[in-house]
Amino acid sequence: MQGKVFAITGAGSGIGQATALRLAELGVQGLALSDVNQAGLEETKSLLAKYQTRVTLKKVDVSNVEQVDAWIRETVQEHGKIDGAANVAGIATGNGQITESIDQSAWDKMIAVNLTGVMNCMRAQLQHISRPGGSIVNVSSTSGLRGLANNAAYASSKFGVIGLTESAAAEYGKKGVRINALLPGPIDTKIFREGEAKGLFNEEIISGGTLMARMGKAEEVAKVLVFLLSDDASYVTGGEFSTFS
Ligand SMILES: NC(=O)c1ccc[n+]([C@@H]2O[C@H](COP(=O)([O-])OP(=O)(O)OC[C@H]3O[C@@H](n4cnc5c(N)ncnc54)[C@H](O)[C@@H]3O)[C@@H](O)[C@H]2O)c1
Repeated sequence: MQGKVFAITGAGSGIGQATALRLAELGVQGLALSDVNQAGLEETKSLLAKYQTRVTLKKVDVSNVEQVDAWIRETVQEHGKIDGAANVAGIATGNGQITESIDQSAWDKMIAVNLTGVMNCMRAQLQHISRPGGSIVNVSSTSGLRGLANNAAYASSKFGVIGLTESAAAEYGKKGVRINALLPGPIDTKIFREGEAKGLFNEEIISGGTLMARMGKAEEVAKVLVFLLSDDASYVTGGEFSTFS
């Protein structure tokens, strides 16, 4: 991984932050980190201070195409290139309504961040990513394979991420760029705990249904994500990697 530059969205917390730390631990040359949460980004930067990796931060809302384009343009200017990207940013802001009661603005926001946000990032990243050798990982969810009652907007956005990933992987495989989807199960991060507090999901019920009967940690997901970004996954593209079944 040495000599490589990676861009990460949602890098101010949870899986995105853990991915940044794992990449720095492996000695990458540069990290371009973005999030809507500036304080979270500063926290990630301070955790990265002990590594040699060059770190740039940018407050970016992934649903805003101009902000995403500017971030990726600046990343190429500042770091000289992009070898890979982890599109991790996401929300789970529903209020647990059944489908007939889903508020239109809540639906639009979920799709804008979780699905259009990944599209905005991929479009900008693919214009610059190293060919051959580039790699993108989009974070979906196990709810992107099997719908989740009272979470139709979230699940739909995550199903969409898989369709987008597979389609782009089919376009870019011959160009030497790999694109995969990572589907975390229940992971102990802010998004899960905030959803649980609103009654959207429940740790015991959700983790009890997993093969390991426990929540995962952000670091455990980050290791799989970084494997997919790395050349160790050189014959892996268009895949969906679920962290439990
Ligand atoms: N934690 C879980 O149980 C779980 C399960 C399946 C999938 N996921 C997915 O994993 C990804 C990362 O979530 P996490 O678990 O690390 O949660 P998290 O809440 O710790 O991190 C999500 C990050 O995304 C950022 N973000 C939110 N909206 C944004 C926007 N519009 N633009 C840019 N950044 C934005 C947040 O500020 C936050 O830092 C999400 O896409 C989530 O849907 C999480």
